[in-house]
Amino acid sequence: MDRRGFIKTCGFACVGGTALAMVLQSCASTNYFAQNTLTNNRITVKKSEFINGDKEKQIQRKYVLVKIDQLNFPICIFKISEGVYSALFMQCTHRGCELHAGGDYLVCPCHGSEFTNKGIVQNAPAEENLKTFITTTDDENIYIQL
Ligand code: FES
Repeated sequence: MDRRGFIKTCGFACVGGTALAMVLQSCASTNYFAQNTLTNNRITVKKSEFINGDKEKQIQRKYVLVKIDQLNFPICIFKISEGVYSALFMQCTHRGCELHAGGDYLVCPCHGSEFTNKGIVQNAPAEENLKTFITTTDDENIYIQL
C-alpha cells in the first residue's frame, strides 16, 4: 500500500470509529423516566431507579428523569457520587426550551447551551445556572423538595 492509500484507509477508519462511538453513546443515553410519588410538595424516587438490569448484569444509570403534572418540565436527577444527587429543572435559562440529558450534562436543542450535572452553565448563550432543588436521601430513597 502506498502512502496515499494508507492515509486514506486511516481516515476512513477514524471517521467510522467516531460514528460508531456516537451511535453507541446515543443508545446508552436513552432517557429513563423514574417512578415517583409526590407528597407534601416532596417527590420521592427510589435509589434502585438508578440500577438497570438484573442482578447478574447491572448497569448504573448516571441520571433519571422525573415528570410530574405540577411542573411543565421534567426534573433530571443526576447521581454525583454514592449518596449524593442533584435535581435540576430541565428548562433552559436562555429562552425556556426543554433540555436534553446526555452523559454528565444537559444540552439545549434550541441554541446549544450546555449545563453540568450540577446545573452550572458551561456554554452560552445561556448565562444563568439552572434551577435546582434541594435533595436529601436515606438508605432507600431520594427526596426532592419542590
Ligand atoms: S433556549 Fe436554550 S440556548 Fe436558547
